[in-house]
Amino acid sequence: MSETKKSEWNSTFAFMMAMIGSAVGLGNIWRFPNVLYSNGGGSFMIPYIVSLFLLGISFVLVEYAIGFKFKKSLAQILYFIKEKLEPVAWFVLLIVFLITTYYVCVVGWDLIYIVLSITKAWGTNPDLFFTNNVLHSTSSISGLFTIVPVVLASVFVIWFIAWFILKRDLNDGIGRVSKILLPLLCIIVVGIVIFSLTLPGASIGYTQIFTPDWSALTNSNVWLAAFGQIVFSLSLGMAIALTYASYLPKGSKLVDSALVVAFSNSGFEVFNSIGIFSILGFMALSSGIPFNELVTEGSGLAFVVFPQVFNIMGPSAHIVGPLFFLCILFAGITSVIALLEGVCYSISEKFLIDRKKTATAVCIVGFLISSIFATGAGSMILGVFDAFLNNFALLFAILLECIIFGWIYDFDELIKTLNENSKIQVGKLWKIVIKFILPLCIFFLWAQGAYSTITSADSVSITIMIILTVVLIVVPIIFAKLPARNKHFFDM
Ligand code: ALA
Repeated sequence: MSETKKSEWNSTFAFMMAMIGSAVGLGNIWRFPNVLYSNGGGSFMIPYIVSLFLLGISFVLVEYAIGFKFKKSLAQILYFIKEKLEPVAWFVLLIVFLITTYYVCVVGWDLIYIVLSITKAWGTNPDLFFTNNVLHSTSSISGLFTIVPVVLASVFVIWFIAWFILKRDLNDGIGRVSKILLPLLCIIVVGIVIFSLTLPGASIGYTQIFTPDWSALTNSNVWLAAFGQIVFSLSLGMAIALTYASYLPKGSKLVDSALVVAFSNSGFEVFNSIGIFSILGFMALSSGIPFNELVTEGSGLAFVVFPQVFNIMGPSAHIVGPLFFLCILFAGITSVIALLEGVCYSISEKFLIDRKKTATAVCIVGFLISSIFATGAGSMILGVFDAFLNNFALLFAILLECIIFGWIYDFDELIKTLNENSKIQVGKLWKIVIKFILPLCIFFLWAQGAYSTITSADSVSITIMIILTVVLIVVPIIFAKLPARNKHFFDM
């Protein structure tokens, strides 16, 4: 028995909303349309669905089963599986925490754009405005010494919101916020998609989704891209599903709810991209810019291309613009709190610190690290963090998790746990996927990511990556070595 009071979801609905909210994030809104377009359009749905079922849902099920069976934090679970594995838990959690530090910054940029979009304050050149007036971006590392006050303030606001939600009891904080924000997000997205379909030129855009390029299916990079999208979008290996499932009451239907979460997340990104493509089709028709030059990912799509679209949209842009940025804010906040919950849970359980104090400490440290991204060199450093942590560190962490849960832990225990209450049963195929197929796919994705990250890096990026590597080795060891204040940390 742990000495910390164990939280439990007060309804399946709260759990589902929190899980879907954790998955639906920036990845669905600004990553998926580009990945879909650059990898064969309609035919991409085949590798995407295969990856979703074979790999994505399979790994989410592992996290569900582990979290539900142990009802503990990741640090304690790995300690129990093998004492020496505790640093791996802190390694995973540190990666997740560092990802959150820049994720919060992007949500902070979005907050600025909610305000800017009301008057379309970005003017006639949104690209230049974003770089010069919002980010005050410099290409040199010396920009690190110039704070950008507006970005810092917006980053502070997002950390404050995250702290305000996390410090509360599970159902009053994460549960309640997810139950409000997710339905609101869906209503706004449905509204935007319907509106976008009425725009002239919309069909130029959405037909791209339904026009398959079958030759793309023979390209292994397309399959890796599909798998990469599933990893990011379903937040695989980030200890979110594991943490949220550990709060489930006895008798919960694990397999059934994993399927609902995965389908809702994918349904959201496919539906949302119909709207994004239609709006880009409208832009292509109105501006004469070829469609393929408009489809871009990340901040380019949200903070440059969309403001350009709103500039030529007329008065309706004063409503559609703020709503579009509000969507990103809602999707971002539910993902930020999910990313942080697993981190807070492990700290609070090992060091016996209550929820409020843990949330306060984590959010203060997080804000301090995020401040680096609110400097003139911030967007450059953010790019390096993103490439290194997502393409390299996180995939390595998932590989370790696959080996630990698939090979070191008794996997048949997980099959029993999942099948206990669910209508849909898992068996041998799932075991083969987790033990062999998933690690192999992750390894290829990791090798591809590592190669592209390292070969495209300059000397500043390499220095940042070396610092991150040292931090990712040293800090988890320190956390594992620190004595547990919770005297039950070592019991199951
Ligand atoms: N799954 C979250 C996203 O897509 C992290 O943004």
